[in-house]
Amino acid sequence: MSKRVAIHGFTPASQQHSLLNTPTDSPRSVAVSISPTTSSNLHNIFRQNSLSGSSASTIRPSKVLHPFATTEIRLLLLENISQGAVAHFKSQGFQVDWFPKAWSEDELVQKIGQYHAIGIRSKTKITERVIKAASKLLCIGCFCIGTNQVDLLTAAKAGIPVFNSPFSNSRSVAELVIAEIVSLSRQLGDRSREMHDGVWNKVSKGCWEVRGKTLGIIGYGHIGSQLSVLAEAFGMRVLFYDVINIMPLGSARQVETLEKLLSESDFVTLHVPELPETTGMISSKELAAMKRGSYLINNSRGKVVDIPALISALKSGQLAGAAIDVFPSEPGANGPHFNDQLNSWCSALTSLPNVILTPHIGGSTEEAQQMIGEEVSQALSRYLNYGSTIGAVNFPEVDLRAIAADEKNFVRVCHVHANQPGVLRQVNEILASHNVEKQFSDSKGDIAYLMADIADVSEADIQSIHDRISATRANIITRLLA
Ligand SMILES: NC(=O)c1ccc[n+]([C@@H]2O[C@H](COP(=O)([O-])OP(=O)(O)OC[C@H]3O[C@@H](n4cnc5c(N)ncnc54)[C@H](O)[C@@H]3O)[C@@H](O)[C@H]2O)c1
Repeated sequence: MSKRVAIHGFTPASQQHSLLNTPTDSPRSVAVSISPTTSSNLHNIFRQNSLSGSSASTIRPSKVLHPFATTEIRLLLLENISQGAVAHFKSQGFQVDWFPKAWSEDELVQKIGQYHAIGIRSKTKITERVIKAASKLLCIGCFCIGTNQVDLLTAAKAGIPVFNSPFSNSRSVAELVIAEIVSLSRQLGDRSREMHDGVWNKVSKGCWEVRGKTLGIIGYGHIGSQLSVLAEAFGMRVLFYDVINIMPLGSARQVETLEKLLSESDFVTLHVPELPETTGMISSKELAAMKRGSYLINNSRGKVVDIPALISALKSGQLAGAAIDVFPSEPGANGPHFNDQLNSWCSALTSLPNVILTPHIGGSTEEAQQMIGEEVSQALSRYLNYGSTIGAVNFPEVDLRAIAADEKNFVRVCHVHANQPGVLRQVNEILASHNVEKQFSDSKGDIAYLMADIADVSEADIQSIHDRISATRANIITRLLA
């Protein structure tokens, strides 16, 4: 991979004054993430506190940095990305080209060279060919959960961090599970289908309140823990099983083994990632270990449950019902595609009573879409403006605390380089005659990223630091923010 030397990234002091006077320089325009990761939270708390004025007596306001003359930075947004995200980028002074559809590889190769950032959903493929044509590209935002539409390794080698929004829909999934618990317990799916067919079937046999019943949560992460709180508010007793020890919320209780959870729960719900260990984690043996007449819910990943084994357990009455939102093979488009050609057992599953089937909609709400738009647009502008890679999926996560507004003549060095011995020594030699206020570096695979805030630098110093670091052997891209 050839070295990239940032031709942008340094705004001469003569231009800084006018930039700082634009409305986009309002401290309120500084990115605030809603990512629930600890590091992001600390980052945000710091930034929010320093901006809100609520703790003005203890925290100095932070300086708004500018990587470019704001009229120069261009973003390409494809696949109908939310207007909220467009508004956010425009508020930062970026130029935005917005398109409702995905672009083909050829179209991208032809046009991506003019853009500094791109926002996509799942249909646009960012391949090696596209990345090679993206001579100015600094970052990629996936306005969705997954990132496998991007060649992450090639992007990292080109110095391009990729951001997504993995947890924006946790609440939406947890709420759907609550709805499914009640629906299964009251056989709502069947009653509704009967009424649509003109059949009045008023029954109470086999229908239960959920109050006092036990919910067993497998995987107590973002979704599992949200669900725990909601279920307790419904009067349920909550048990959970996780591979790591986690502080329970409310009165929930962690159990030592999966078997214990299965044997004590009236409802079992899965919230684990797809891993070799979780593939087929619920099969005949586990279903047999569940209470007779209990219910299974899977909104996690399709391969976690062995569906033919589930069908047998439902047919035998071992389970009284199931709700399934995710499947080992899912259709690529909406339409009448959920059939035995897709999965050999589809018709066996759809013919069973008290089985709620949904087309992977656990996280599909307007609120989740809006939060994805906010989170990814803020991650992109935080990288473009401040160099922070917190939340990047293919890059070392590096950030520095903000430069205070009253700290003059500071510059932030953002140096993406190959992960080789001797790089830090070389960079520190270049910075040796300056006061390095703070510095942080981390690596991931072949890529390393160094951020450093340098005090007391003149305009000539900044140009020299930029040119000398950019000329080092391991340099991939160096940007200076002032
Ligand atoms: N249906 C949907 O639309 C939808 C939407 C969002 C997320 N999801 C899926 O839901 C799942 C959970 O998402 P999340 O955001 O809560 O993830 P998370 O990473 O926050 O939590 C996952 C939890 O599972 C635990 N875990 C991992 N392996 C385990 C094992 N073998 N046994 C028990 N626990 C294990 C982890 O320790 C972690 O606490 C993921 O698979 C995600 O892809 C589905």
